[in-house]
Amino acid sequence: MIQGICFDLDGVLVQTDNLHYLAWKGLADRLGIPFDRAQGDRCRGISRMESLEIVLEHTDHIYSAEEKERFAQEKNETYRAMLARLSPSDLPADVLPTLRELRRRGYRLALASGSKNAGLILTRTGLRPLLDAVADGTCITRSKPDPEIFLTAAQMLDLSPQACAAVDDAVAGVQAGRAAGMVTVGIGDSARRSAGDYNLMCFGQLLDLFLQPDFKSNLRM
Ligand code: G6P
Ligand code: MG
Repeated sequence: MIQGICFDLDGVLVQTDNLHYLAWKGLADRLGIPFDRAQGDRCRGISRMESLEIVLEHTDHIYSAEEKERFAQEKNETYRAMLARLSPSDLPADVLPTLRELRRRGYRLALASGSKNAGLILTRTGLRPLLDAVADGTCITRSKPDPEIFLTAAQMLDLSPQACAAVDDAVAGVQAGRAAGMVTVGIGDSARRSAGDYNLMCFGQLLDLFLQPDFKSNLRM
């Protein structure tokens, strides 16, 4: 029986995936390094420092660990300045009604995001009260595709991973959910790549998926 749903944040509950891209692009432009959307897609789900390595892949310049630390900090400051302007109106229209209906139907909902900025985003968008548990980048030592974040979220919900579904827009995120033993639902980029066990074109389709009378019993258990 699926009793819990563990959601990624950036690119699933809110379009902050685009803000990550714009903040990395700003850094790359300043350094004169080409960086495009396809590279941005490869940054989905992975850590800040791993993303920086993708940003730096089209330069021959060797940067020191200290310089890389400063670049990551610079990107994060740009990103947080963008987050400071977020408001509930930035949530896709189907997110709040979908989360409310899933809760009404008895599903327990958790965040499973590798971001250390998740708390700020949940506060700015008003999402926090709709979640039963929050696992974010401050709770883990290994980023997706390692299963740690999804295992932590399931534990916080007091459910076994097999009783949970993982919803993620990143291929690395879907891999993490699968490695945790969860049913996986791809959305956005991961859905376009058919990475999930189920692949959805928009968030609202979660209702069709999870409210099918036979959905719970049909899933692998
Ligand atoms: C999420 C995003 C990644 C980001 C990571 C760390 O997984 O999908 O693009 O690199 O969080 O985010 P942070 O906000 O801590 O830099
Ligand atoms: Mg994401």
